[in-house]
Amino acid sequence: METKDFEQTLVLIKPDALRHSLTGYVLSQLSEFHTGLRFAATKIVKVHRMLAEEHYAEHKGKVFFESLLEYIMGASHYPDEAWKRRVIALVYMGPGAIQKIRDIAGPTNPHDAREKRPGCIRALGTLFPVKDASGKVLDERMDNLIHASANAGDAEREVKLWFKPSDLPPAMRIYSTEASKEHFYYKDGKLFTAYEAGSVCLLAPGNVAWKSDLEALRLLAKGQKAPCSLEAVAAKYLINEEAS
Ligand code: CDP
Ligand code: MG
Repeated sequence: METKDFEQTLVLIKPDALRHSLTGYVLSQLSEFHTGLRFAATKIVKVHRMLAEEHYAEHKGKVFFESLLEYIMGASHYPDEAWKRRVIALVYMGPGAIQKIRDIAGPTNPHDAREKRPGCIRALGTLFPVKDASGKVLDERMDNLIHASANAGDAEREVKLWFKPSDLPPAMRIYSTEASKEHFYYKDGKLFTAYEAGSVCLLAPGNVAWKSDLEALRLLAKGQKAPCSLEAVAAKYLINEEAS
């Protein structure tokens, strides 16, 4: 049922929105009343570094990348209160979900947002200086309150990166799933098919996984190249784990 009518998109209510108590405002803007879209999943996430790096992989190497990781991990907005560092991750579903939410979010740069689309969510954003070790300003990071998937390819990658199939009601899973027949464990960047002390269990027999994740894990377990990295699969299983 991967049709336009059942399109899904990932939304993150970023730490600046939580810090400035704009969560309710953002959710209201995205409500079914305004968008015709429905919630398919939601969770409160303490973003760990692996998840942040995978989510923003396309920006690796850019001047603002490290600062962007600090932002999405909550370190910028809650420097002294680490327990408050979190985002709200949501999946919205419905006709044209990706473009509808991108339109309500508005342009990436809050200054552009204010000029070109007054009233959009990102019009309430701010710019934050990116400095080098000596304090020289190198760039400006865009603190823009919300992430929204940009296209269908990104949406599939991002929904699967943040959510397990069991986070969505069965009738709302639009990507193929498969029950694992094997055990998979993760520890220190390595994959195991039997328990290792201190490892996290990614999947056990009977657990339902995204089919693409299972295919990747099977290849990686055999030491073969997979279409995505181990981290891209493992990250969601480490969400809110004590050790991460
Ligand atoms: O979020 P969106 O898809 O609109 O933009 P992006 O180009 O994929 O960038 C992801 C995020 O990185 C943005 O939402 C900004 O928070 C940040 N960014 C930044 O700080 N400086 C830039 N020059 C570009 C993006
Ligand atoms: Mg983007």
